[in-house]
Amino acid sequence: MPDAIVDTVASVPVAIVGAGPAGLMLAHLLGRAGVGTVVLDTRTRHEIETTHRAGILEADAARALVETGVSERILLDGHEHEGVELRFGGQPHRIDFKKLVGASVWLYPQTDVFIDLADARERDGGTVHFGVRDTEVLDITTDSPKVRWTAPDGTRHELRARYVVGADGSRSGCRDLVPEDRRTRYGKDYPFAWFGIMAEAPMSAPELVYAHSEHGFALISQRTATVQRMYFQCAPDESVDAWSDDRIWETLQARVAGEDGFRLKEGPILEKKVLRFRSFVQEPMRLGSMALAGDAAHTVPPTGARGLNLALHDVKVLAEVLLRALGSEGAAALDDYQPRALQRVWRAQNFSYWMTRLLHTAPGATPFDLRRQLGELDNAVGTRAGRTFLAEQYTGWPTADRD
Ligand code: PHB
Repeated sequence: MPDAIVDTVASVPVAIVGAGPAGLMLAHLLGRAGVGTVVLDTRTRHEIETTHRAGILEADAARALVETGVSERILLDGHEHEGVELRFGGQPHRIDFKKLVGASVWLYPQTDVFIDLADARERDGGTVHFGVRDTEVLDITTDSPKVRWTAPDGTRHELRARYVVGADGSRSGCRDLVPEDRRTRYGKDYPFAWFGIMAEAPMSAPELVYAHSEHGFALISQRTATVQRMYFQCAPDESVDAWSDDRIWETLQARVAGEDGFRLKEGPILEKKVLRFRSFVQEPMRLGSMALAGDAAHTVPPTGARGLNLALHDVKVLAEVLLRALGSEGAAALDDYQPRALQRVWRAQNFSYWMTRLLHTAPGATPFDLRRQLGELDNAVGTRAGRTFLAEQYTGWPTADRD
């Protein structure tokens, strides 16, 4: 008796839980093909817009956002980067993506990707409910799954869908719906976190700088000509209150210092936050009528800038198979989702893990560990194979092998 427990009942081909970039891009791609969606998120639009996330898009992902009419702004406000710098042993080493693999990446913050997608949904008349609570996903192993939720005004709603997509992020509730005996969770914790800052200062370098020193890792990224994003390795339980602006700048300067006299341009710090991370994959990425996409199915440490790109790749594949599934092929088309998405997921897991270990200083590392690590860094920048590996992984993998 649904009428007794909900105020409204509606139907839609695809219900999407989670209005981050994965959920909204999926809704956008399906919408372009004439398939209706409803997207739900427990967060308000304001909450999502004011949470800072990473900032690197693969060229293919940037192109997809431009070409499908989501974001002209990438071309205006984004910056194409044809390389990155790795600094260690006090020396800079540039990895030239363009020269090595003919590819580049775009610096364009995830927050802006979200804003562009949310605006595009509004422009195209798509339905997105922000700030909902008590979301329940039901009957995923049947052909008629349902989603129920409470709207901000307290009314309760039911949506009947043919398919449900869990794009509800790294604390996904949807992934818990796959029973324990039918899922495997792979995970790894790291003994460090990132201390992230937003600072009002000019750019210190034209491209991103990933720095390793015996004191730990630092990343110098950018946002605009006057606002910069930087991170340094800290303990997972570090407290932001222990860090004055002076102490932060001293730490960052020490981690990037080198024989070339490189120094960061300093300024007032606008935001400080400790960001914990882990590696995680849940398989399968689909059960019955529900598929998982993005962080709900897998998270990576931020070091390789893979997270957003992986999420966008998932939904590109998922949009294709859902369109087939809703057409003449039926649910069997969904069998193609996991094999096509998961190969990239594990490649990215490996790369993110490798780059994290390559650049961070493990607590308790012995002198042997540290010297070996310098050997690995030297292999990465000092051999053509090493540089090419890094360039190819960082810029993303072509859908088919290049050679
Ligand atoms: C960022 O700009 O926030 C950023 C860039 C590259 C990363 C992680 C974060 O690997």
